[in-house]
Amino acid sequence: MSQIDRRRFLVLGAGVVVGAGALPLLGCGSDPLTVSPTTTGGSLTTFRSPSEISSVDGLLETTLTAVSGMVPFGDSERWAYSYDGSSPGPTLRVKPGDLMRILVRNKLDNPTNLHTHGLHVSPEGNSDNVFVSIGPGEEFLFEIRLPENHRGGTYWYHPHRHGYVAEQVAGGMAGMILVEDDYDSDPVLAAATERVMVLNDPKIASDSSAFPTSMMDRMMGREGDLVTVNGVHHPRLSVSTGSLERWRLVNASSSRFYDLSLAGAPMMLAGNDGGLMGTPQEIDSLLLAPGERAELLVPVTDSGSINLHSHYYNRGGMGGSGSAGTTDLVTLEAVGAPAQAAVPTRIKGAEISPPPAITGRRSVEMSMSGMSFRFDGKTFDPARIDQHLVLGDVEEWTITNTSMMDHPFHIHVWQFQVTDASDRRLVSPGLKDTVVVPAGGWVKFVLNITDIPGRAVYHCHILDHEDQGMMGVFEATVA
Ligand code: C2O
Ligand code: CU
Ligand code: CU
Repeated sequence: MSQIDRRRFLVLGAGVVVGAGALPLLGCGSDPLTVSPTTTGGSLTTFRSPSEISSVDGLLETTLTAVSGMVPFGDSERWAYSYDGSSPGPTLRVKPGDLMRILVRNKLDNPTNLHTHGLHVSPEGNSDNVFVSIGPGEEFLFEIRLPENHRGGTYWYHPHRHGYVAEQVAGGMAGMILVEDDYDSDPVLAAATERVMVLNDPKIASDSSAFPTSMMDRMMGREGDLVTVNGVHHPRLSVSTGSLERWRLVNASSSRFYDLSLAGAPMMLAGNDGGLMGTPQEIDSLLLAPGERAELLVPVTDSGSINLHSHYYNRGGMGGSGSAGTTDLVTLEAVGAPAQAAVPTRIKGAEISPPPAITGRRSVEMSMSGMSFRFDGKTFDPARIDQHLVLGDVEEWTITNTSMMDHPFHIHVWQFQVTDASDRRLVSPGLKDTVVVPAGGWVKFVLNITDIPGRAVYHCHILDHEDQGMMGVFEATVA
């Protein structure tokens, strides 16, 4: 056990009763992130889903109050940032054409705001506007209208107030947004058990010492003590053979990458950032960088354990994601006699057409030197427009990364299609809004600049890097 772990253990031991999942891990002498279920003394923390709010007659109306304080953690509690005391926040379930009217109340000591990551909505006014700043004690009403033709999918919300994003997201402020689509009514899909999985890796403490982080952590991108799924460390749940699981994952960690694989059942990739794809495909592993989403289908055929785990991933620089070895995320106990589980071979209506012909090209460079994180040699300036875009253009963007660390590139308002990368593993199918640009490498994608004018941002989704200036501003105007 490292010095830091020992100190944290003592703090926890003195201050709070730690959840059944966590205390044996911290006390058993192994790294808390690499302990397998068999060494946790059989303690079992049940999988839990975030609460859910659905739109009614085209309107989703809610208040999200940003607070700092204790949240449930296993059988105990930990200090976190949250919306109304729960981390993750509620899942918001909406349909194309709906209006989301969300009042954000800020009870933190720092400014905050709200971003709907991945949604194709206006970035202006009181819509998905990241230039809004809600001071301590203030509130702001967001009104975000989804277009009628919005694609279904797994999106998410989190604060986006420059300078405070990493701390607030790592601290626990994030939630899922599910946009329903006609293709969700595919009979096989509709019969599946849907589960939201918000991945985060908070620091575990019983007071606000959970938040501050060192200069080195900010340079690398902070990583926490334990990996949690919907706020629970290594949840287990029991399922029946013959059933199909539909998992909707978001990496809501500030910096940690998850290199996912599944033991005990096949794992099918059915969708990612911008919704489902026409043909689910069986995969062995999936790299999920901060901000990225995945929809996985898991047919449960035989009884026994099914374990979703994450392998160590070296994201460059001086560190990696987690300690070497494997981290367990979720364990399913399948019960029942062997039974086939139906898997959709084709999801009608979810097919993604290839991008239209390119009308122009653009290159963007991500770089870092010391604590300076840049796009095209410049740190973020909200008053500067870095990319002038014209609605109707279809651009091929080449993002290069001259630094020694991977950076997940994210752009607001539109989804893109990755066409090539220096590391072929990163050429993921489907629609994406976030893609890893490998250290010393590059990625190419096609961005179809449609419909929505306005000023918004693109940035590294290692949120410490974004907070330190690895963010640029674009403005899209009508031709
Ligand atoms: Cu997930 Cu600009 O953010
Ligand atoms: Cu975003
Ligand atoms: Cu970065």
